[in-house]
Amino acid sequence: MSYKNFPMVPRVVFGRGSFNQLNEILSPKRLNPEAPFIFLVDDVFKNNNWLTSRIPLSYDDKVIFVSSAEEPKTSQVDELVEHIILTSKKRPSGIIGIGGGTLLDLAKAVSIMLTNDGETKDYQGWDLVKNPAIYHVGIPTISGTGAEVSRTTVLTGPTKKLGINSDYTPFDQVVLDSELVKGVPVDQWFYTGMDCFIHCVESLNGTYLNAFSESYGSLAYQLCKEIFIEDGLNEIESQEKLMMASWHGGMSIAYSQVGVAHAMSYGLSYLLGIKHGIGNCIVFDQLEEFYPEDVALFKTMKEKHKIELPQGICANLTDEEFDTMINVALGLEPLWENALGNHWKKTITPKKLKELYQKM
Ligand SMILES: [Fe+2]
Repeated sequence: MSYKNFPMVPRVVFGRGSFNQLNEILSPKRLNPEAPFIFLVDDVFKNNNWLTSRIPLSYDDKVIFVSSAEEPKTSQVDELVEHIILTSKKRPSGIIGIGGGTLLDLAKAVSIMLTNDGETKDYQGWDLVKNPAIYHVGIPTISGTGAEVSRTTVLTGPTKKLGINSDYTPFDQVVLDSELVKGVPVDQWFYTGMDCFIHCVESLNGTYLNAFSESYGSLAYQLCKEIFIEDGLNEIESQEKLMMASWHGGMSIAYSQVGVAHAMSYGLSYLLGIKHGIGNCIVFDQLEEFYPEDVALFKTMKEKHKIELPQGICANLTDEEFDTMINVALGLEPLWENALGNHWKKTITPKKLKELYQKM
């Protein structure tokens, strides 16, 4: 047995208003005046002067606004890398992702692809990256995905939805400023928060569980209950706690694995382009047989926050489409093995998955 030697984010700032320290943080990392910092920013902030006016730009630094309406794609990473190379005098000093999981994952992937040849799709998998990425910084503006702390960047490619898992993927620096999450709509807050809750459930109930994962996972699970079930937190406390829950949930799966909801959600997302957070919720809502207590808890939270999930999204799919979705889900073997043990293939058959998908 060989144990994972897991890289962690070496530097993190936590605090309300810490975004204002960005200039201090970045300045020593500037390689030279011709090597810009590239800020990839969620385009919901395009007309948000409160945030954009505080992005510290000098020399040839650039802001590129990116839509997070769709899940990030390998082709999108290739286009961004090409654009950055064509419009910069020198290789950038760093990439700074500002946004939710989509923007954070794009920033990680772009920083890797600026130093590695070929196309992004060639690196989907485990430990395929050869050269260290350029300096990259993650600044979440919504909490839950764990992308700020993870060793992967999940991308939809031409043939699969799979992350670039590598030691070079984690951020060099993360800025956790809870003030940045203040404008998030309730439904998005819920879906992304539930991504974190589901990370905890899948980690804590998985066969890969160990003391490392449990310590982070049980703490994040408690925080999720405080935030989504109990009353008594004010808005700032709630924002700060979800920020830390996201971090700890991400740390928990870093040393274990996710499970049934994630495997099936990737299928939905690959075929129908459903965003990760809401996809997880749609799947998890139907998983009583795998996670009975936590699905009940999830339904309570859903009611408390008056969230209505889309229904019947698989109602009109063809057999071929079901097969595509099922193949993506079944391909994620470590997730199934974590969820159900070595003999998972006995219970998880294409027929079984089709029955589950038909309920969604
Ligand atoms: Fe997730």
